[in-house]
Amino acid sequence: ATTLDASAAAKGRYFGAAIAANKLSDPVYTGILNREFDSVTAENEMKWDATEPRQGQFTYTAGDRIVNHARANGMKVRGHALLWHSQEPSWAQSMSGTALRSAMMNHVTKVATYYKGKIHSWDVVNEAFADGNSGARRDSNLQRTGNDWIEAAFRAARAADPAAKLCYNDYNTDSINPKSTAVYNMVKDFKARGVPIDCVGFQSHFGTTIPSDYKANLQRFAALGVDVQITELDIEQGSNQANAYKQATEACLAVSRCTGITVWGIRDSDSWRTGKNPLLFDSSGNKKAAYTAVLNALNAG
Ligand code: G3I
Repeated sequence: ATTLDASAAAKGRYFGAAIAANKLSDPVYTGILNREFDSVTAENEMKWDATEPRQGQFTYTAGDRIVNHARANGMKVRGHALLWHSQEPSWAQSMSGTALRSAMMNHVTKVATYYKGKIHSWDVVNEAFADGNSGARRDSNLQRTGNDWIEAAFRAARAADPAAKLCYNDYNTDSINPKSTAVYNMVKDFKARGVPIDCVGFQSHFGTTIPSDYKANLQRFAALGVDVQITELDIEQGSNQANAYKQATEACLAVSRCTGITVWGIRDSDSWRTGKNPLLFDSSGNKKAAYTAVLNALNAG
């Protein structure tokens, strides 16, 4: 096929992009989105600070613009993210203990209920593990409410929207390393104890290369009985960019439970990684060599 989404669909996968509601009025941006992608993630609009800026007062205007655009154009929506230590509203940043735990679970329930039936996969918890070799949870006010906060969030999300796939999402977990192994052990424990988890998201914010054990890492998680998704892919521009995108695409296609790929933005000018030009379209909206490499990898075989 001649577009990313149709080529991925022929292999049983979705191909998505992170998008910003305030760019949907840009015809170049929306033209590429509608032509090439069949899944979207809100880059910021469904986060806690955006959806509950004051405690108990929920605002869905920007998130709804994304959901409505997706539904009108036959796209799936990945929900991102119900609980994350970053981009907490200021009122939550100053909370702790049982009051914070109640506020967290209320947030999960309210947002997942509001979007019930419209979300393909939710990032229920984002980035809860520490970097480095400790394998520990990341310290945060969320974590200090008790080590069971993650499973409590997954149970609350399942109760609110039983049809959504519930994902744990993180970065620096793309290779086999102490951080990814800690996540692996959590997922294994959740599956053994019946905690509702369906998928693991691998953000995949890469430098100029992808890890040699990327596919093996995706495969070991899939073997636990969860889907895996590449959720925030971007790869720094350089002489290896197209090849690295090809390898990332091939890794997903080689793992039967890798259900889709999302790139973290559309044009280089849309990326959070200023100056790295890490996406598939240049700032004018032209297809890059990386685009062709992904398209050809999706169509191979
Ligand atoms: O919207 C406000 C604007 O009103 C204000 O004038 C401006 C001034 O700083 O800030 C704007 O908000 C910014 C927002 O992006 C929208 O552009 C925030 O400052 C900025 O912090 C925020 O950055 C986002 C970042 O998450 C926050 O941590 C990026 O767009 C977004 O790409 C990035 O995405 C994260 C994923 O959620 C999780 N994984 C890592 C990934 C990259 O950091």
